[in-house]
Amino acid sequence: MPRLLFLGDIVGRPGRRILAERLREIRQTHRIDTVVANGENAAAGAGINARLAREILECGVDGITLGDHIWDQKEFPGEIDQLERVCRPANLDSASPGRTHLFLDCGGLRLAVCTLLGQTFMKMKADCPFRAAEKRVPALRAEADAVLVEIHAEATSEKIAMGWFLDGQATLVVGTHTHVPTADATILPHGTAYLTDAGMTGPYRSVIGREVDPVLGRMLDGLPRKFAVATEDVWMRGVIVEFDSSGTARSVTPLAVPTTSAEAGL
Ligand SMILES: [Fe+2]
Ligand SMILES: [Fe+2]
Repeated sequence: MPRLLFLGDIVGRPGRRILAERLREIRQTHRIDTVVANGENAAAGAGINARLAREILECGVDGITLGDHIWDQKEFPGEIDQLERVCRPANLDSASPGRTHLFLDCGGLRLAVCTLLGQTFMKMKADCPFRAAEKRVPALRAEADAVLVEIHAEATSEKIAMGWFLDGQATLVVGTHTHVPTADATILPHGTAYLTDAGMTGPYRSVIGREVDPVLGRMLDGLPRKFAVATEDVWMRGVIVEFDSSGTARSVTPLAVPTTSAEAGL
């Protein structure tokens, strides 16, 4: 049965480094057929560019998704169309550059991948993710054996609602954006694997990937500070889903990989 690994937001150099150091081995140990990762924070925590996308793909990632930080690097709108294995959130304005979805091989089956941006507490303008899902997911399902839908959103309620909305249509509905892994991995009654947040691939001794002191300082006095990407306690976090030829999820298992096995006390 095909095995898919989805990785949460790759944050800066620490996130990229753990991919380079450990992803090939993890692919083998867990018999992973295909890896999809969110790359919206790959460039020093803010956005991505073509060079970094290629670097991530070379680590053993097969497809890269993005979120509200998609355009943080100013060159990226001019680069995204050249990147065949990178897709933008599908519910951005239709005139936005970039692919709305990807088709990837996953253990001999065809896997469609798309990301939807949430609206609750999100600054980026996007169409209703539910109406977008209603149109897009059946269309993807008609062209693929399995569908991965990433819901990139702040509110847990919006993510959970999307899981129920797509139960039986998507193979996996997985949340990203908050960078904090949740403990609610499950298979919904009609066969969709669901997880509210995959967590980030990045430094956990941090405030969602940034150095603690400047973030805390700003929360205390409101003065602007540079929020550098933190460097310690780096983990690769995500979820492994096994699915059958009808695109139904058979197992869902969160994955947490430290920089070295010694760090986890293994
Ligand atoms: Fe993020
Ligand atoms: Fe985000």
